[in-house]
Amino acid sequence: TIKGVIFDLDGVIADTAEYHYLAWQKLADEEGLSFDRQINEALRGLPRRESLLHILGDRHVSEEQFHQMMIRKNHYYLELIQNISPADLLPGVRNLLAELKANNIRIGIGSSSKNAKEVLQRLGIIDFVDAIADGYSVIKPKPAPDTFLHAALQLKINPCECLIIEDAEAGVTAALAGGMSVIGLGPIERVGNAHLVLENLAETSWQTLENQISQVQKSLL
Ligand code: G6P
Ligand code: MG
Repeated sequence: TIKGVIFDLDGVIADTAEYHYLAWQKLADEEGLSFDRQINEALRGLPRRESLLHILGDRHVSEEQFHQMMIRKNHYYLELIQNISPADLLPGVRNLLAELKANNIRIGIGSSSKNAKEVLQRLGIIDFVDAIADGYSVIKPKPAPDTFLHAALQLKINPCECLIIEDAEAGVTAALAGGMSVIGLGPIERVGNAHLVLENLAETSWQTLENQISQVQKSLL
């Protein structure tokens, strides 16, 4: 049985994945690097450093320039999230959080972002959250399972009692590597390895999700 749900943040709780994309696009345009939405798909869920390495490709820059580019991208990102508010919660999220609380299911965040706490605060849901694993918590980022395992440890539950909700391929891989159940949000091409794939969290309930996941678990036994 599931005792805790660990949410990825960007692209699951709010559409901040779009702001990460826009910030990288601005940097890439200024630097004359080829980048677009399609290339960005490969960056979903990856930490800042790995994302920039990917965008640079074989363009060589000094360590100092690399560092400045990461700072600049984050500056653009922070500008973009200045105006986010509880209205930016993706459909179904607030409802699901309330249902989890009512059912005594623990709530965690497992994000690669160093801005996770700020985003949660702006979205007005930090008080729902029992544990946060973010870009400061572990050395090995997703697709390694460490981020989610760190959150599970804080929630004091076993990995097999955790349900992860993710929108990135790297995050689905991380959850599976940690021995956790995982719901993928988005297209099959991206999150098809998840135990259950949904378009989003709108029009679902904890009871429905729990049933669907336990069906899958039974069929895997
Ligand atoms: C999340 C997002 C990524 C982002 C990463 C690092 O995983 O999905 O797009 O690159 O966090 O975020 P940060 O806010 O620390 O640059
Ligand atoms: Mg995400």
